[in-house]
Amino acid sequence: MTNAQIPTIAVTGAAGQIGYSLLFRIAAGGILRHRPFRLRLLEVEPALKALEGVVMELQDGAFPLLAGIDIGSDPREMFDGVNLALLVGARPRGPGMERADLLQANGAIFTAQGRALGEAAADDVRVIVTGNPANTNALIAQRNAPDIPADRFSALTRLDHNRAIAQVALKTGAAVSEISRVSIWGNHSASQYPDLAHALVDGRPALEVIDDDAWVEHNFIPTVAQRGAAIIQARGSSSAASAASATVDAARDLLHGSAPGDWVSMAVPSDGSYGVREGLVSSFPVTTSDGNAYIVPDLELSDFARRRIDASVAELQDEYDAVSALGLI
Ligand code: NAD
Ligand code: LMR
Repeated sequence: MTNAQIPTIAVTGAAGQIGYSLLFRIAAGGILRHRPFRLRLLEVEPALKALEGVVMELQDGAFPLLAGIDIGSDPREMFDGVNLALLVGARPRGPGMERADLLQANGAIFTAQGRALGEAAADDVRVIVTGNPANTNALIAQRNAPDIPADRFSALTRLDHNRAIAQVALKTGAAVSEISRVSIWGNHSASQYPDLAHALVDGRPALEVIDDDAWVEHNFIPTVAQRGAAIIQARGSSSAASAASATVDAARDLLHGSAPGDWVSMAVPSDGSYGVREGLVSSFPVTTSDGNAYIVPDLELSDFARRRIDASVAELQDEYDAVSALGLI
C-alpha cells in the first residue's frame, strides 16, 4: 500500500466473539498505529443485523483513525481492494468436538474467500487466518488464490506463542517483556510443539533458568498445547479476547516488524525448512518486516523436538490429504 492511499482492512466473522474484541483493538490503532484506515466487515446474511449493532458501537467509539466502515455478505465486494484480510469467521469448536470435524464445514468458506481474495484484493494484500482449523483453512484459501503469492498467507499461532510466554513468566517470575525466542512448531492444535530450547529469560537460556525438565515436558508443553480446550471447558466457548489480541499482535508485527533480537511464531507455507513438506502451512519461528515473514534458519533440533514436530506435521499432512480428497485444493 502506498502512503497516499488509505489502507483497507477486511475482517470476516465480524459479528462473532473474536470480532467483538478485535474490531475495537484495530479501531484504536492496534495494527496500523497512527495511520487512518477503512474497515470492511464480512458476515453471513443472518448475522448482518447484529453486525449493524457492532458498527453503531464502532461509530460511538469516535475512533479518530477509523475513516469508514462497509459491511456485507459478499466476499468479492468486501475484499475489493483490501490490503489486509483477517479471516476470523468460521465455525468454532464446541465441547467434545474434534478439530478434524471442522475441516469439511470450513472448507467451503475458505475456498470461496480465497477465490474472492484472488479476484478482488489489492496487489499487496496480506492474509492472516484465525478461523479454525487455521493452518488448513489458510492452505485452502491460498490454493484457491493462485495469483496471490503463497507467502502472503499465514495462519495464527501467535496465541500459542503468547500462551507459551505467559507460562514461562508464571513459572520463573520474569516479566513477559524479558522472555524471547519462544517457538511454536506445527499445527494450531493439541499436536503443536511449544519449544523453549532457544528461548531466553532476561538474556539467559530459559531451560537453565527453569531448571526443571519434567515441568517443561509434563506441564509446560501440554498446558500450552491444550489451552484452547481448557478455555472451552471453563468458558463454554472458545477463547475470544486473547485470540483477538493475538491476531492484532500478528498483524502489527507482520506489517511493522518483529522486535530486534527476538522472533514470533506464525504458520506460513513451508519452503521445505526443517524437513516440513513444501507448501504445508506449518508454524515456525519467524522474523517479520514490511509484511514479510522469514523462517528463522539453522536452529538445532533435539531428537525430542524432531519427533514432536514430525508428529504435528503428520497431522497437517493428514488434513492436507483430507481437503485434497474433498477437492478443496
Ligand atoms: P463465533 O461463532 O463467535 O463467530 C464466528 C463468526 O463467523 C459468526 O458471527 C459467523 O456468522 C461468522 N461466519 C461464519 N461463516 C462465515 C462466512 N462464510 N463469512 C463470514 N463470516 C462467517 O466464533 P469466534 O469465537 O469469533 O471464533 C472464530 C474462529 O476463530 C473459530 O473458528 C475459532 O475456532 C477460531 N479461533 C482461532 C484461534 C487461533 O488461535 N487460531 C483462537 C480462538 C478461536
Ligand atoms: C484456541 O486455541 O483457543 C482456539 O483455537 C480454540 C480451539 O479450538 O482450541
